[in-house]
Amino acid sequence: MKRALTPGTFDPITSGHLDVITRAAQLVDEVVVAVAASQKKGPRGPLFTLDERVALVEEATAHLPNVRVEPFDELLVDFARKVEAEVVIKGLRAITDFEYEFQMTALNYQLDRNLETMFIMSPPQYMYLSSSIVKEIASLHGDLGDFVPPCVRKALEAKFA
Ligand code: PNS
Repeated sequence: MKRALTPGTFDPITSGHLDVITRAAQLVDEVVVAVAASQKKGPRGPLFTLDERVALVEEATAHLPNVRVEPFDELLVDFARKVEAEVVIKGLRAITDFEYEFQMTALNYQLDRNLETMFIMSPPQYMYLSSSIVKEIASLHGDLGDFVPPCVRKALEAKFA
């Protein structure tokens, strides 16, 4: 049984995240989408609560039978051990992601040599997509159709109504 973790803040989940989760689900027996509680609180914290973010990821991935969603509030390596995941699968977008992902991968490897990290390259249409830019578009009432799953579009429209 090969189990992968796809971690993130998912504030909110985008079509780019969904692409990575879908492709990861084709590579392993089970994917656990790990939704981070986020260390940032208050006005600099997430737009959606942890419960809301988990619910949106659950709805967006409901059609994928080997995907489940779990919140976590600890080191990723500890959570991976808890759910018995042997690999972390993350999306890699434009070159700007590289430094940050390289740092996290190196530190996670130092913290736990048994946890592997793998990357799936974003397809061109999602290369520059991020939760932050999606929230900005939503706040200015732009068309979100290409960027997020329908349930997230509805949730963002409600937040910025
Ligand atoms: O979607 P994001 O914000 O890029 O996700 C970052 C996340 C949640 C994957 C990362 O911050 C993380 O793994 N947090 C858990 C705490 C942890 O393990 N930190 C040390 C990483 S070396």
